[in-house]
Amino acid sequence: MSVTEQQRRYLDAMGIPVWLSRDNAILSDADDPDSGVAVLQDDSMLGWEILQPQVTSCTRCDLHKTRTQTVFGTGSHNAHLLVIGEAPGADEDRQGEPFVGRAGKLLNEMLRAIGLQRETVYIANILKCRPPDNRDPRPDEVICCEPWLRQQIALLQPKVILAVGRIAAQNLLKSDVRIGAMRGQRYSYGENQIPVVVTYHPAYLLRSPKEKRKAWEDLKLVLQYLA
Ligand code: URA
Ligand code: SF4
Repeated sequence: MSVTEQQRRYLDAMGIPVWLSRDNAILSDADDPDSGVAVLQDDSMLGWEILQPQVTSCTRCDLHKTRTQTVFGTGSHNAHLLVIGEAPGADEDRQGEPFVGRAGKLLNEMLRAIGLQRETVYIANILKCRPPDNRDPRPDEVICCEPWLRQQIALLQPKVILAVGRIAAQNLLKSDVRIGAMRGQRYSYGENQIPVVVTYHPAYLLRSPKEKRKAWEDLKLVLQYLA
């Protein structure tokens, strides 16, 4: 299949009109089946095995009282791309996995649009427990939960981080810049200076489908960093 046909399918999957990105050839990288997978890092296995049960039993903030279960994160421990969202919603709280609701379906399509299967990336949230009624995470909760995400990033050592939505972007980057202004900027995380791409949250894109073309621009940036 030619890149153009494949590109058209991907854009279709994301619900983006095909005439938007014809001029860009960058998607050819999506043909590489290895683009989301790193070399095995054996010694990190132990790290994950210790970390996950700690999170499962975490009571560092009050959210532990109202959660059904923690939502640790999911995907490949060898992922090059780490996607960071906000916090579990009702579906995630019930199933114990991030991004499994409607927003998650769109996130999967967004990943597919850059040739990545959900299973080959890693997906986590700022908070591991659901805030009641899906309210915004409180600053004290973010502070309590932060060490878990920091350790996940240290174990994963991704090539790129994609922060989806204002809450993820602002908390990860310690910024109060509005999300629209964070998009397209060069950010990096931690002492290893992992590039961070900021984009809209898929739940927002479901409400504002016109913004999908901007998200598509952000996803192309992700591909550039992965290349
Ligand atoms: N929204 C998020 O930010 N994270 C999830 O896991 C689900 C919905
Ligand atoms: Fe622990 Fe984070 Fe859950 Fe709070 S939100 S109880 S810090 S895992």
